[in-house]
Amino acid sequence: MPQEFRQILKYADQPDYTPDMECYLRHGGYEAWKKALATATKSLPDGKTVGGPEQLRDEVRMAGLRGRGGAGFSCGLKWSFVDRKSGKPIYLICNADESEPGTFKDKQIIYKDPHQMLEGMIIACYANDVHLAFIYIRGEFMEGARILNRALAEARTKNFLGKNILASGYDLDIWLHRGAGVYICGEETGLIESLEGKRAYPRIKPPYFPAVLGLYMCPTIVNNVETLCAVKHIVAMGGTEYAKLGTPNNTGTRIVSLSGHIKKPGYYEVEVGKATIGQLINDPAFGGGLLDGRKLKAVIPGGSSAKVFKAGEKFKLKRRGPDGKEAEQEVDMLDLPYDFDSLIAAGSMSGSGAIIVLDDSTDIVEALSNIAEFYAHESCGQCTPCREGSLWMSKALHRLTHGQGRKQDADYLVRIADNIPGGRTICAFGEACAWPVQSFVGKFMDEFIARAEADEQHRRASTQSVVPASEIEMAASVPS
Ligand SMILES: Cc1cc2nc3c(=O)[nH]c(=O)nc-3n(C[C@H](O)[C@H](O)[C@H](O)COP(=O)(O)O)c2cc1C
Ligand code: SF4
Repeated sequence: MPQEFRQILKYADQPDYTPDMECYLRHGGYEAWKKALATATKSLPDGKTVGGPEQLRDEVRMAGLRGRGGAGFSCGLKWSFVDRKSGKPIYLICNADESEPGTFKDKQIIYKDPHQMLEGMIIACYANDVHLAFIYIRGEFMEGARILNRALAEARTKNFLGKNILASGYDLDIWLHRGAGVYICGEETGLIESLEGKRAYPRIKPPYFPAVLGLYMCPTIVNNVETLCAVKHIVAMGGTEYAKLGTPNNTGTRIVSLSGHIKKPGYYEVEVGKATIGQLINDPAFGGGLLDGRKLKAVIPGGSSAKVFKAGEKFKLKRRGPDGKEAEQEVDMLDLPYDFDSLIAAGSMSGSGAIIVLDDSTDIVEALSNIAEFYAHESCGQCTPCREGSLWMSKALHRLTHGQGRKQDADYLVRIADNIPGGRTICAFGEACAWPVQSFVGKFMDEFIARAEADEQHRRASTQSVVPASEIEMAASVPS
């Protein structure tokens, strides 16, 4: 039976563990940074030499680390895209916006072990020739900002940051910036715009890939808090050893934020892919099961934007059998290993690592309406399909949850959602707002239709007015 494997959160909840520097140093803090600084230039058999920073980048590549912020993109590959020949400074930004609903893991690291995040950041900066870096923290995390500012001051005092760090000749400073408190500030290019002092309008890619044209149009690395913490452990263990944690292509550990209708909501660190969704929900070591007398209805596996799974849903996945051969197998949703690839293969994603459990007391239409209202509020408004579509979907769902549903609403919702993603928008928010609607309505169609029929019946039976004509016209104007 899988258990928690605490690497990043190893000390976080110990009663005597505090977020100050002295405590961190007592627990081996900044040793990985010293090790990284001491990585000497290596000569290769062909006469070429590889510097310390390049070797560190190689360790991260060998570790197979994938970003913990949402997309699960290879960290080593992202770092390899950085334009190192432009002659411009290279910046690094730690994305501490943590805005995906259901996610509360970065906050734990910041509150309980801020120096670990700083150490990971410092090593990542050194590995990438960065001399100025930023922490972009969600505006509402005032306490987190205070803790991090204190940790930064402590790190400067000990010369882990600043000029000529530990007499190495390497200079680095890190500045903390409190964000604007909007979801789109978590999207890396929106974040960069916001950090530059502008409205957080995401930039179009190409050409504005941060690795080439990021902060102040300079090469920039944006990594999540947890990803940067993992860098510290990769350097401490070595990339090859780190890659033995987790499962192939899904290495290391991951902190899962578990919420909803379960006995023990909270954060749990596990080796990636070693526990299934069902184990995370039901095992005593994790969620401890559903509330008494309740049945599972659905699971949102990777933050609110991930496509929902319906209880009992089955997927055909390619899996390697004991004979080493790959064969297609039918897998129940609860038996999906909680890793990046299995969830993508099942048509959803593990995203920011946030599992939201919905039991049979959940009103699915209400739940989707709540999510859609969030996305309609958070769209930055630059792209018409996202700005208008998210609002139309939210309005239709508001109607459905306020006794004004119409039989065609389910189709209407799917039609709008289908017309938002697929290269029609500047950023992935387009997908993020469409996926919940596509999956909730697609998988629970009967509940949406039943709700609308009940509303229509009720209206027929009473003298209540019908939906305003203007809204029907709006529905008709959505492209099919
Ligand atoms: C709408 C939207 C919101 C996002 N919010 C966050 C966030 O709050 N935190 C985060 O780390 N990444 C967030 N991301 C992903 C970032 O754009 C980026 O991919 C990530 O910070 C890269 O870090 P990683 O490679 O370490 O995962 C968001 C993406 C989108 C499209
Ligand atoms: S997809 Fe939505 S959030 Fe992203 S840039 Fe376009 S309007 Fe803004």
